[in-house]
Amino acid sequence: MVELTKWYGSVQALDSVGLTIAYGEVVALVGDNGAGKSSLINCIGGVLEPDSGAIQVDGHDVVMGSVRDANELGICTVHQDSTLADNLSAVENLFLGREVTRGFGPFRRVDAAAMRKRTQETIARLGISTIADVGTRVGQLSGGQRQSVAVGRTMLDDFGIVLLDEPTTGLSVGACARVMDAVRALRARGAAVLIVSQNIDEVFDVADRIVVLHLGRLAAEFRRSEVTPEDVLAAVMGMTLR
Ligand SMILES: Nc1ncnc2c1ncn2[C@@H]1O[C@H](COP(=O)(O)OP(=O)(O)OP(=O)(O)O)[C@@H](O)[C@H]1O
Ligand SMILES: [Mg+2]
Repeated sequence: MVELTKWYGSVQALDSVGLTIAYGEVVALVGDNGAGKSSLINCIGGVLEPDSGAIQVDGHDVVMGSVRDANELGICTVHQDSTLADNLSAVENLFLGREVTRGFGPFRRVDAAAMRKRTQETIARLGISTIADVGTRVGQLSGGQRQSVAVGRTMLDDFGIVLLDEPTTGLSVGACARVMDAVRALRARGAAVLIVSQNIDEVFDVADRIVVLHLGRLAAEFRRSEVTPEDVLAAVMGMTLR
C-alpha cells in the first residue's frame, strides 16, 4: 500500500497509509473503533476504491474494480460482517465463483461430491463439529458457524494474500484457536496475511508484526518480538511511546 487515502464525504477514513506485507508473514492491524481498519481491508480487498495512493502486488500497481478482480490477483478477504449468501449452502458459499469441475470442454461438470468432501474437511479442520450438514442453507447457521465458513474460504485455494477483518469475533474459545491454527497454516504455505483483531493476546500469539492505525493514520509499526502489549495499547490510544 502506497499513501492510501480514503474519504467518505467529509470523513477521512485513511490518511496516506503506507504498508508492506511480505509473503509468509502475518501482520496484525490494530486500532480503536473507527480508526480505519476495515476501510483499509476493503481497499485492498476490491470492495472500496481508494481516493488516492496505490496498491501494488508483486511490485506492480493494480487496480481492482471488484472483489472478483481481487480474487484473481490472489487476494481473499473475510469481512467483519461476513458476507455469505444466506440462500446458499456452506458448500456453495465456500466454492462460490470457483466451482470444482471435472472432465474437459463440453464434458465439464461441476463436481458436487468433491466440493462436499472438501467442505467437510475444511470445516472439520476449523473444528466446527456442530454443523450437522454442509448442505444446510447458511442463513440457518449460527453466527459463529457462519463466521467459520467465511474463514474456511481463505483456506481452499492457494490465495497469496489473505485479509481477515476480526475473524474470531463471536467464536467460541475452541473455534478461535482453530482460526489461529488456520492463520499459521496460511503463513506456513507462504501467504501474506493481514489480520484485524481487538484481542491483544491473539495478536501477540500469531503476528510477526503489529501495525497500529489511529484516526486513519499509520501511528506505529512494531516487530512482535520487540514490544509489549502495553506499548501496542498505548499506540492504539494515540500515545506515542516511540
Ligand atoms: N460507509 C461509510 N460511510 C461513511 N463513513 C464511513 C463508512 N464506513 C466507515 N466510515 C467512517 O470511516 C471511519 C473508519 O471506519 P472503519 O470501519 O474503517 O473503522 P474500523 O477501524 O474498522 O472500526 P471498527 O473497529 O469499529 O470496526 C469511521 O469514522 C467511520 O465512521
Ligand atoms: Mg472494522
